[in-house]
Amino acid sequence: MKSSLPLLSPLPQRAALTHALDELAVELTVYCNLKCKMCSVWELKQHGVALDVAQKLLRQARSLGAHTFTPCGAESFMRKDFLDIVEYAHALGYTTQDIVTNGTMITDAHLDRLQKTPSVYLHISIDGPREVHDDLRGEGNYELSVTCAKKCVERGIRVGLSGVLMRETIERAFHIVDLAAELGIAEVSFQPFQEEISGPDKDLKRFSLLRTPKEVIKEKLEALSAYSHGKSVSIFTESMFGVVPDYLATGKRPIPPGGCFLPSKFLLVDFRGDVYPCFFMRSDDDRMGNVLSDEITDIWHSTHHQELQVLALTERCPGCLAACSDVDSFVGKESAPVVYAPAKGHAANATAAEGAGE
Ligand SMILES: C[S@@+](CC[C@H](N)C(=O)[O-])C[C@H]1O[C@@H](n2cnc3c(N)ncnc32)[C@H](O)[C@@H]1O
Ligand code: SF4
Ligand code: SF4
Repeated sequence: MKSSLPLLSPLPQRAALTHALDELAVELTVYCNLKCKMCSVWELKQHGVALDVAQKLLRQARSLGAHTFTPCGAESFMRKDFLDIVEYAHALGYTTQDIVTNGTMITDAHLDRLQKTPSVYLHISIDGPREVHDDLRGEGNYELSVTCAKKCVERGIRVGLSGVLMRETIERAFHIVDLAAELGIAEVSFQPFQEEISGPDKDLKRFSLLRTPKEVIKEKLEALSAYSHGKSVSIFTESMFGVVPDYLATGKRPIPPGGCFLPSKFLLVDFRGDVYPCFFMRSDDDRMGNVLSDEITDIWHSTHHQELQVLALTERCPGCLAACSDVDSFVGKESAPVVYAPAKGHAANATAAEGAGE
């Protein structure tokens, strides 16, 4: 019998599914010299993959097209071979190496080497004025971080400042813009407080803005944007400011309008060597392999990888909001409708408690 169904033409292959790798992120260490009150990453205390494995990953990622290397985890300068890895990446042709650092361990000898590695872009974390910063990070650390930022500017090392938007810093975020303007730093970045970094056991009420009226957060962010423009300091994450109030006040997790492109251009290798498609798809089902037994050249565009890419592109990923989210996908789409994934962690608990009338 002849089928009455129309002949289905094959689905066109989405260009994103065969896109080249753009960025490799490797958690080189989860050791840190500080124990900041809003962070639990330092508690893991482990180094990531060995130098030879890191070098192999860098070569393989370059062969897949990557030109950005993002060393991450806790404090990269805790690794004695950290700058060997950075210099190796530079020699391979990486053009950008985004290094988020507390800046407190960077010596003049480190700066000499960084100065000769122009792909390096340091992002020094500053939480607010001295008293706010030192209360969260420990006495004397504001001075160390600001001195490091100053020296970077003097030596022509690319540098930005990174702040966290949380209950006790959001009012004082202007300070970070002022500091950037004073030091001659052109760009700052603000990411909202996340439980992924704090862990569930910190003083979440102290940091979280959950249940703060969204309008209040919106006004503060608008004022911060206007202030930065007035000071000619740009905010890397400004395109995400429209969704920050919802994220902070309700815990709802945005996915960029039209889906997230990040897993189509990015790979994360965590400190255990496990490979994931982004910083926030990190369940067992999202683990695509381990670099100690698998090659990232096989993982890239594998069936598993393509399945995860499709989840992100069709707005079915966990959603997130951080400086390492797909910031580019928000640019120019500030008024486009955003899909929200459900809240997680303390935000999900708060929503459930609200629903139960607690
Ligand atoms: C985990 S740290 C690692 C890099 C480095 N140790 C530093 O402090 O810059 C990466 C960034 O996350 C920020 N951060 C720390 N705790 C956070 C939290 N609970 N939510 C969001 N960002 C946080 C830090 O200020 C820093 O800019
Ligand atoms: S925020 Fe950075 S410096 Fe502070 S404890 Fe966490 S990893 Fe270390
Ligand atoms: S979790 Fe975040 S970074 Fe990952 S795919 Fe979804 S929106 Fe993109």
